Amino acid sequence: MRYDDYPDTREKFSKTNTRKTSSKRRIKDLTEHKEKNTSLDRFADHTLQELFERGFIQDIIWQLQQGKEATVYVATSQQGLVAVKVYADIRARSFRNDSVYREGRFVADVRIEKAIQDRTNVGINAQLVLWVEQEFRELHALHHQGIAVPKPIAWNGNVIVMEFIGTEDGAAPRLSDLHLSKEEARSAFEQAKNILRGFARMGRVHGDFSTFNLLWHEGKVYAIDFPQMIRFRENPQAEILLRRDIKGMLKTFSKLGIAEDEDALYREVLRQVPR
Ligand SMILES: Nc1ncnc2c1ncn2[C@@H]1O[C@H](COP(=O)(O)OP(=O)(O)O)[C@@H](O)[C@H]1O
Ligand SMILES: [Mg+2]
Repeated sequence: MRYDDYPDTREKFSKTNTRKTSSKRRIKDLTEHKEKNTSLDRFADHTLQELFERGFIQDIIWQLQQGKEATVYVATSQQGLVAVKVYADIRARSFRNDSVYREGRFVADVRIEKAIQDRTNVGINAQLVLWVEQEFRELHALHHQGIAVPKPIAWNGNVIVMEFIGTEDGAAPRLSDLHLSKEEARSAFEQAKNILRGFARMGRVHGDFSTFNLLWHEGKVYAIDFPQMIRFRENPQAEILLRRDIKGMLKTFSKLGIAEDEDALYREVLRQVPR
């Protein structure tokens, strides 16, 4: 296996960590004496500061991929390294139109639904938080069913903390970044199909399933990136989105030398969905 094209984007985190001085001692002081003094804020970002105060993260040490919607960082914690997915303010970026995914999703408050439709500030904030919450909930459900996804750890506003897939030497690469041997590619594909069947048995469609959202770690495949996940029970477009996922999966796996019949796979996976 070669790590071709896999950029080493690890960078020291500096933006939200502006007041980091002799951090190791300070973490120790804060955690051991349980002091709470806002002048000792570690993070300029209050959401991260809260996660720090609640003990989920300590220092942010690397930046991984920066996507359209989110940037993923690696942080230290008392339980070891964790992945921290920070969603960008959607006003600053072109946020994906999520109405197809939100279709049928329950929104507790009609005023919030109206605000989202009117794209007011309150609505846009609510939309972002609902989107991130959705990812966290799905991670929980999937992990609970034993599907290979990062274990969810904490959610706060626009931030999710989850198990870091990788080692101290680096994050697990995406399947899209790798050249695998024939056997490895076949194994990765079988595992990806199993993950897809697992989603289907839970009545779910990933909504963005491809080798770009599959990590390869010590011979095991992990699925990531769930804010858009769809439920058959709620969304009348689920079958179309499943078909699209299978297309995307096969298209990206073809780069790893895998070929499979789309219709047959679609029918097989669809049969797993509880009716
Ligand atoms: N738990 C994790 N462990 C290791 N790397 C991760 C983890 N979650 C995400 N990543 C890395 O961060 C990238 C972006 O994460 P992802 O959830 O796919 O967000 P998006 O594609 O919406 O930007 C992934 O492609 C992967 O390289
Ligand atoms: Mg992704």
